[in-house]
Amino acid sequence: MRQLLDEAKQMQDWMVDIRRRIHQHPELAYEEVRTSALVRRTLDELGVPYRHPVAETGVVAIIGTGRDPCVALRADMDALPIEEEADVPFRSQVPGKMHACGHDAHTAMLLGAARLLKRREDGLRGTVKLLFQPAEEGGGGALRMAEEGALENPKVDRIFGLHVWPFGPVGVLVGRAGTLLASATSFEVKVTGKGGHAAMPHLSVDPVAAAAKIIVEAQTLVSRELNPLEPGVVSVTMVRAGETFNVIPPDVVLRGTIRSLTHEGAAFLKRRLAEIAEGVARANRCQARVEFPEVSYPPTVNDDALWRFAQEVAGEMLGRENVREIPPVMGGEDFSFFAERVPGVFAFLAVGDERTGQAYPVHHPKFTINEDALPVGAALHAAFALRSLDELSGG
Ligand code: NI
Repeated sequence: MRQLLDEAKQMQDWMVDIRRRIHQHPELAYEEVRTSALVRRTLDELGVPYRHPVAETGVVAIIGTGRDPCVALRADMDALPIEEEADVPFRSQVPGKMHACGHDAHTAMLLGAARLLKRREDGLRGTVKLLFQPAEEGGGGALRMAEEGALENPKVDRIFGLHVWPFGPVGVLVGRAGTLLASATSFEVKVTGKGGHAAMPHLSVDPVAAAAKIIVEAQTLVSRELNPLEPGVVSVTMVRAGETFNVIPPDVVLRGTIRSLTHEGAAFLKRRLAEIAEGVARANRCQARVEFPEVSYPPTVNDDALWRFAQEVAGEMLGRENVREIPPVMGGEDFSFFAERVPGVFAFLAVGDERTGQAYPVHHPKFTINEDALPVGAALHAAFALRSLDELSGG
């Protein structure tokens, strides 16, 4: 374990360079053309074969015998529509786009793991698949990768994913058995009334007042209808109405997100949000059309036994005290689509400052990572794969 980490540390500059090149050219969901090309070029240099395209820009690389048992390691490649404000020399060169969720680091770490594993290919007792997936931030790239056979031929027996974690110092891994992350569903409510002169509201039907009541009513879903012991979130994050001060607009669009730790909870909140929006709109002489326009992500559930395995492997590498358990987090991840199909572990790799252990949170325009975490992530990926193949091949 130590040996892997030492080797990975010697590759740090190489991984940092890859990460920074990706960071400078962030690409949004299903547009990861340049990033995907960089991944493939690097795999070519390492002599690692791959399948492409899988789910538009996705890449499935193969190291080992090509036969079972098979372990998959996953990285996501997409960026966010955020204007970068981080004061770094390699900041985003694309206006309005930024790697604010660390997917640049995930991709670089997985390439680091590819290099570590390729060196050991002769001794591998099975196959390691490296999944470089598009569109984690809302597009459900993992689902499409799975639908396009990324978990087949050979069939994946278990899968691991790492995500950067700003709330701890480098060298720490956090996670838990069971449900780690919430289901995520985006909603859109269009409230339609009848536009008119703002001075004569009685001649129009005001969708703004109706939409405001829908927002307020939606707050009682979690506070009054959900079991207080069951976590849930309903956040309205976008309100789009009129253009000026003296016109009642014909319609208002609300968007937001629903989170729950269970499928049942998510289904309940979706149904009740639609009922409230439609009912409140009707009571105010408006109409509401409720849609759930993007791919809904299931809760991310770690396999209990596999989390214990990951704790043990990571504990040997980082020290037991540096592998920590946390309560579930209400963020969502499309790794859940993989973990629904095969036993999986998703865990958070700390990338905070050495002294304070802190960084700006993910999705913040000033988000940065401590790049000393890159070798740790690469070595952990490789160790999870190597140990898994030993275990699965009965060694
Ligand atoms: Ni992310």
